[in-house]
Amino acid sequence: MGHATRIRYLIAGASGSHGATGNHVVRQLLERQLPVRAFVFHADQRSERLEALGAEVDVGDLRDIGAVRRAMAGITRAYFVYPMADGLLDAITVFAVAAKEAGVEFIVNMSNITSREDFPSQAARRYWLGERIFDWSGIGVTHLRPTLFLENWLAFAEVVRNQSILPLAYGQGKSAPVCAEDVARVIVNVLENPVPHRGKTYVPSGPHSVTMSEMAGIFGRVLGKPVEYVDPPLDQWAQALAQAQRAPYTIEYLLKVAEAHQRGELDVQTDVVQQIGGAPPKSIDAFVAEHRAAFGG
Ligand SMILES: NC(=O)c1ccc[n+]([C@@H]2O[C@H](COP(=O)([O-])OP(=O)(O)OC[C@H]3O[C@@H](n4cnc5c(N)ncnc54)[C@H](OP(=O)(O)O)[C@@H]3O)[C@@H](O)[C@H]2O)c1
Repeated sequence: MGHATRIRYLIAGASGSHGATGNHVVRQLLERQLPVRAFVFHADQRSERLEALGAEVDVGDLRDIGAVRRAMAGITRAYFVYPMADGLLDAITVFAVAAKEAGVEFIVNMSNITSREDFPSQAARRYWLGERIFDWSGIGVTHLRPTLFLENWLAFAEVVRNQSILPLAYGQGKSAPVCAEDVARVIVNVLENPVPHRGKTYVPSGPHSVTMSEMAGIFGRVLGKPVEYVDPPLDQWAQALAQAQRAPYTIEYLLKVAEAHQRGELDVQTDVVQQIGGAPPKSIDAFVAEHRAAFGG
């Protein structure tokens, strides 16, 4: 039996809803004609599309050991991702246990740039703890701690379109946002050739480190209209997040991320996307141009 038919990939978060890294990974693996089991939370049109592309679809909850055990059967390599939500450590523990039992040889773990044992958010510290659980499993693992996803800015499409403002409590700190599809390319290349990446932690980033004022300038240039960065005080920002129906767990996290951004702690720029992903990362200009209709160009 050849290498390509022996290795089977299990991809969590395969439907995707935000950065959709799992969804991009499934599609990229299928483009390479590799056998993929797509693990989804809900059976719907998104999972039907994956099935039509050739993925085997498995529906379940990442916190459910029975479901994840079934999904792991016959799997050799896996991608773990869980949304910014409560339950991360349950899901990681279940995934590690089921993978170990199934003899999985390698996992790529989606962590976060805020993964630090001393980060002032409990949710962020759970990323760091989760990495340690995968390390202790003894399964080969690569942790990814990407910078902010460019897709986050789609949440501001309506205000950019209607009010020409970019409201974010990020102060004058810088960051180098990265496109989730570029991160997916890194994941796929690590999954296909894991040996040099075993035990490594990477920070995939975008190509430009910018302040939010500079980012608003890029939006304005690409959209052909002035876009102003508005930096609200943190209490107003917290109210806006609550009005947007964000869960308290997520709000606690996002406020600490905003403070870290203000302090310049999220300003990391690397060549991981080029070196491991094999192509240059998407620029902010290209991302805004791609979503011109949503942002109101
Ligand atoms: N956004 C950023 O700036 C950023 C930057 C760096 C790292 N990250 C990390 O990236 C991760 C999110 O990645 P992403 O944006 O690619 O994810 P995503 O698009 O939000 O997709 C998450 C998927 O997980 C599924 N899901 C949710 N709860 C589940 C459960 N209990 N069991 C099984 N599946 C479940 C969702 O299904 P449904 O859609 O059906 O609910 C969804 O398809 C987070 O850990 C975040 O910290 C994000």
